[in-house]
Amino acid sequence: MASIAIIGTGYVGLTTGACFSHLGHDVICADIDEDKVRRLQAGEIPIVEKGLDRLVDEGLRSGKLRFVLGAANASKDAEFHYLCVPTPQGDDGAADLSYLEAAAAEIASVLPDNSVVVNKSTVPVGSTRVVARVLGRSDVAVVSNPEFLREGTAVADFLQPDRVVIGSRDQEAAIRVAALYSRIAAPIMVTDPVSAETIKYASNAFLASKLSFVNAIATLCEAVGADVNDVVLGMGYDSRIGREFLRPGPGWGGSCFPKDTRALAKIAEDAGYEFHFLNEVLRVNHDQFTRTAQKLIDSVPAHLSDAHIAVLGLTFKAGTDDLRDSPSIEVLQRVVDAGLTVKAYDPAVLVDDNRLFEIYPDLKIEVVSDPYAASEGAASLAILTEWDEFTWLDFDKLAEIMKGRNIVDARNLLDPTIPRRRGFNYRGVGR
Ligand code: UDX
Repeated sequence: MASIAIIGTGYVGLTTGACFSHLGHDVICADIDEDKVRRLQAGEIPIVEKGLDRLVDEGLRSGKLRFVLGAANASKDAEFHYLCVPTPQGDDGAADLSYLEAAAAEIASVLPDNSVVVNKSTVPVGSTRVVARVLGRSDVAVVSNPEFLREGTAVADFLQPDRVVIGSRDQEAAIRVAALYSRIAAPIMVTDPVSAETIKYASNAFLASKLSFVNAIATLCEAVGADVNDVVLGMGYDSRIGREFLRPGPGWGGSCFPKDTRALAKIAEDAGYEFHFLNEVLRVNHDQFTRTAQKLIDSVPAHLSDAHIAVLGLTFKAGTDDLRDSPSIEVLQRVVDAGLTVKAYDPAVLVDDNRLFEIYPDLKIEVVSDPYAASEGAASLAILTEWDEFTWLDFDKLAEIMKGRNIVDARNLLDPTIPRRRGFNYRGVGR
């Protein structure tokens, strides 16, 4: 087994470290946030990731997983060094590499001979060379090993991946990194670093394209009177299309897709190629936010113009507590800007959860503690995130406490016959 330093303990770094320790490696994770390191050492997990708490607890008990303050303290005794730091989007759409370069600079002088530094964070094409330049160590190989982890299922995605991608021109370094995954049953492909970095961006951009396509098809279905659920079911039987990632919604979001698709468009532009197709994928997505917001605005009847809209779902998807680049927030910002009032509930967002107003200071909405508190006196009800608990709403109770009878289901979560049977007007997406 190997000794691995993990630099950065966000959902990628923490998941990678915990899973590598579960696979038997000696892992030491570093962060710059002293309070976060102390909480992690106590087994406190700051994020919602299914199964992660069990793996961290297992690693702490076995001594296979440790947490320290500062990258140098982790790297000084390790053979592999995984860079899992944020690569946020800069103003011009390009990824900001300042955290990556700072982490590389911090470990350069303490790296043991013949170490392998691994880019796990999603980094622009060509970043392997950037890290090598900052390290300035001819005895140290820099390898790309992009992550394909979805929030909420990151542990499963790490331990049962569709593939492991390794980008390196140094054959021996690639073999050493591949050996870290020897207990994982998945294809391991080795390519050059630029191709590995491009695989990551192209995969996310393709998935985002698939979603923009199905959201556009949903709009077409509304125009021609088709049912998008049947359309995507019929499409998905074709193995070349597949059933996954065909659920229409309010638009797509999260901490990756928006950042990565804009970054890829910028990478292409900088390389001299105007990626019009990808720019259209982004435009369709923003159009979907606006289209969904208009449905919420239209759901308030004139005689109830003073009543609020009850909104269920704020996170960017069910199963996570992440609010970054959430489609729900994109929709609600447009609704609030149109002068309407909103009371919102989300099982992963507490009433006094100030993350919402830190990330979105202009979003003036009230967060409440349950769906019925949101619906009391509401002109209409909208579902924006597909939390399972929203399929069990008591529509008899909602009929008693709501003023209006309009429901907008932006995730096609409900069976329309259930609210309709209780006198509600139901509007889904594409049906
Ligand atoms: C994504 C990629 O899936 C993952 O491989 C990559 O490593 C990181 O980015 P994540 O951002 O966690 O993962 O979310 P994902 O589950 O992909 O969903 C992204 C967005 O698409 C969400 O807003 C989700 O609600 C939306 N979505 C997803 C749909 O609208 N319909 C679908 O059928 C699937």
